[in-house]
Amino acid sequence: MILKSLIFINGFALFIGFLILFLDKVISRYGTVTITLNSEKEFKAEGGKSLLRVLFENKYFIPSACGGKGTCGYCKLVVSEGGGEALPTESLVLTPKEIRQGYRMSCQLKVRSDMAIYIPPEYLEIKEYTGEIVSTELVTSDIREIKIKLVEPESISFKPGQYVQIRFDVDGDFDYRAYSVASHPDTQGEIEINVKLIPEGLGSTYLHALRPGDTVYFSGPYGDFFLNTDSKRKIVCCAGGVGLAPLKAIARYWLTHASNREIEFYFGSRTTKDLYDHSMFEEMAGKSPNFKYFPALSDEDPEWDGERGFIHTIIDRHLEGGYKAEAYLCGPPIMIDAVTDVLLSKGVPQERILYDKF
Ligand SMILES: Cc1cc2nc3c(=O)[nH]c(=O)nc-3n(C[C@H](O)[C@H](O)[C@H](O)COP(=O)(O)OP(=O)(O)OC[C@H]3O[C@@H](n4cnc5c(N)ncnc54)[C@H](O)[C@@H]3O)c2cc1C
Ligand code: FES
Repeated sequence: MILKSLIFINGFALFIGFLILFLDKVISRYGTVTITLNSEKEFKAEGGKSLLRVLFENKYFIPSACGGKGTCGYCKLVVSEGGGEALPTESLVLTPKEIRQGYRMSCQLKVRSDMAIYIPPEYLEIKEYTGEIVSTELVTSDIREIKIKLVEPESISFKPGQYVQIRFDVDGDFDYRAYSVASHPDTQGEIEINVKLIPEGLGSTYLHALRPGDTVYFSGPYGDFFLNTDSKRKIVCCAGGVGLAPLKAIARYWLTHASNREIEFYFGSRTTKDLYDHSMFEEMAGKSPNFKYFPALSDEDPEWDGERGFIHTIIDRHLEGGYKAEAYLCGPPIMIDAVTDVLLSKGVPQERILYDKF
């Protein structure tokens, strides 16, 4: 009897769930709505999709590194009219203050009526690009260095550390993922990205399968993780695994435009096979006494007689005069948190510790 009641309750709940989805998708027609941007421009859109998707389809590109899953929080925008109340999924990411200020997560907010929104001016500079794969090379067991020639437009202007969002097709629709640009910002006709293959990962599997001559679509540049080129302070870079990508762009920029600044470059890997582009950094260190390179392995490796241990312990051992430095970190969240603690204990102020976690 109890089992029968449970089956009935679960079945009923499932039915109601499907009914709500059906009503939302099929019966609800929001019609054509008007979106007003920054109190100056207007465009029409079909209601029913997320604000992020509507903006994307109208060539307004908003940072959305998680692909609209509601986890990165980058897609937040001020919606001054037509947004309704913040959803529970938004309250998990936005702070109460942001909600009071009118911020909404554009990937979660569905367009149902006319809306007035504010897009920061720098987002209006973000463009869509068509590129062609020039080369793709496996540099570790799971990381590929991929070079993309820009076809239309033929050049891109980005800051060392920023990322692009690469688009790919999935089940008759499209999705996208964020990848940091590893190339020198002056190499405008081509970009390099480094992609770690995630088992069953949609974006990384797509990118690993691309071959020279294939076409790719992406937008960018995005992100406020980039080198402060006006500063004269010592630069501390710390990379974990494929987190090397944006820091490579910073090191390449440093070599040609900022080599009078001291730089300490920490790179943590598991084994020598994961320490990709090692010779490039050794060469930089050989060229200038200002470039100090600290590669370190966390696993036992008989081929290695250099530093051993997690990368935050290596920074703890070597960094001096932290109060004079600014730091750029990129790698897994656990590494960023451990390194941040060490940098703070060495006197690097919190506001001068920038990072991208992925
Ligand atoms: C600002 C920014 C810059 C980035 N730059 C780079 C870059 O330069 N190079 C790069 O390779 N990646 C980069 N990433 C990560 C990248 O955007 C994707 O998240 C990553 O490639 C996984 O996407 P996917 O589509 O292959 O996996 P998904 O299809 O999104 O995920 C598949 C499954 O794998 C899990 N998963 C996702 N990521 C990981 C992970 N890292 N480790 C273990 N499991 C995971 C998911 O939880 C899910 O269960 C960046 C991310 C951000 C936010
Ligand atoms: S796109 Fe990542 S939270 Fe909205």
